[in-house]
Amino acid sequence: MSDRSGGGGIFVTGTGTEVGKTVVAAVLAHTLAAEGRGVAVFKPCVTGLDENPPEADHELLRRAAGSDQSDEQIAPYRYGPPASPHLAAALAGEEIDPERLRAAARDAADGADAIVCEGVGGLLVPLAPDYLVRDLAVDLGYPLAIVASPGLGTINHTLLTIAAARAAGLEVALVVLTPWPEHPSEIKESNRETIAAVGKVEVRTLPTLDLGAPETWPQLSW
Ligand SMILES: Nc1ncnc2c1ncn2[C@@H]1O[C@H](COP(=O)(O)OP(=O)(O)OP(=O)(O)O)[C@@H](O)[C@H]1O
Ligand SMILES: [Mg+2]
Repeated sequence: MSDRSGGGGIFVTGTGTEVGKTVVAAVLAHTLAAEGRGVAVFKPCVTGLDENPPEADHELLRRAAGSDQSDEQIAPYRYGPPASPHLAAALAGEEIDPERLRAAARDAADGADAIVCEGVGGLLVPLAPDYLVRDLAVDLGYPLAIVASPGLGTINHTLLTIAAARAAGLEVALVVLTPWPEHPSEIKESNRETIAAVGKVEVRTLPTLDLGAPETWPQLSW
């Protein structure tokens, strides 16, 4: 599969948890689906289901992609406690099996024209005690989209994530700053330019979206 121009696959990571990975992954998936492609989505592990989020990550991704994958096919490991995957698995008396993740992602990709994967937390979050999100990204081989906040502190977090990605041989296709205000401050504009210049990376922005109205979302591809 080609890994450019919206074909193949992309792995959406971020500078941390709750930065907008699911939103960005959903927009990438929706863009591909709107072009008429069959889109699969994948998330190795979902935690925090006990907290009754309005829509869990795998559900929002499935809807955005127009996919008919099952919960199991999108997210092979799903846990109630809002904990890191390795801890949530341990609390359930399990350990996440990297081979099961790789096989599930391969199966999902085989059934589609393109696949959008969302990581968990940031790149160095353990899925199993000796298997990080970054290891899965390397095993899957897709380029990365790195999601980050626009505001103060983001230069360091984003450049650290880019460095951790490139140290493992991963390609960083783009950085996405979200949510990007209609009238960005000088700091946010400077953050965007600085990350692009120092990180030698393409930086895009995503405005605040109505998550319930995908037809109003902008297009985003890599
Ligand atoms: N462009 C945007 N438009 C609307 N809401 C946004 C946007 N970017 C981020 N958010 C909001 O930020 C919050 C976190 O977003 P999201 O759930 O995508 O983060 P995440 O990185 O996937 O989190 P997790 O680590 O739990 O998977 C959500 O409440 C989401 O609605
Ligand atoms: Mg998410």
